[in-house]
Amino acid sequence: MVNLPRILAGRRRFLLAAALAALGKILPARAAGDVLADFGGMPGLTALMETFMVNLLADTRTQPFFAPTDQKRVKDKLAEQFCALLGGDCEYRGGNMKGIHRGLGITMEDFNALVEALQDAMDKHGIAFRSQNKLLALLAPMHRDIVEK
Ligand code: HEM
Repeated sequence: MVNLPRILAGRRRFLLAAALAALGKILPARAAGDVLADFGGMPGLTALMETFMVNLLADTRTQPFFAPTDQKRVKDKLAEQFCALLGGDCEYRGGNMKGIHRGLGITMEDFNALVEALQDAMDKHGIAFRSQNKLLALLAPMHRDIVEK
């Protein structure tokens, strides 16, 4: 059954992420590493990925995607990718976003569910709101390579 309120909520969230992405282009950039420091560096990101994965497996929208994966690898690769995105001294050595997600049939609603799981994890880890938004703004445009339906 179509859950209109949820779809609308998802759309609002996406629009917010898109607006944040646009804002990120005009606001002066913070010094590289400042945002990563707010995440507690690589150890903080590694801990964040534990909570993120717990959330992804607890949500019926994302659980079917992540239950069959090598969860340790996905957590490790996500931490590496986020560290690199936030200007840390790390290199992302995982697959490219298009290739990795090809054929999974991910919808915009699935994408928004993952963003919610990440936001909840960041709240639980006490990440500063401004730094949360910085990461979300970097992730938002990736939907073009990930969402297929
Ligand atoms: C901005 C959003 C996203 C980012 C940054 C992201 C990032 C990643 C990364 C880094 C990996 C591991 C790559 C590797 O193993 O080399 C991965 C794998 C995976 N992602 Fe995403 N992802 C995103 C959105 C999603 C969404 C929305 C879903 C589904 C709801 C999803 C499902 C998966 C699955 C199932 C795998 C494992 C694929 C496999 O093992 O073959 N991802 N993702």
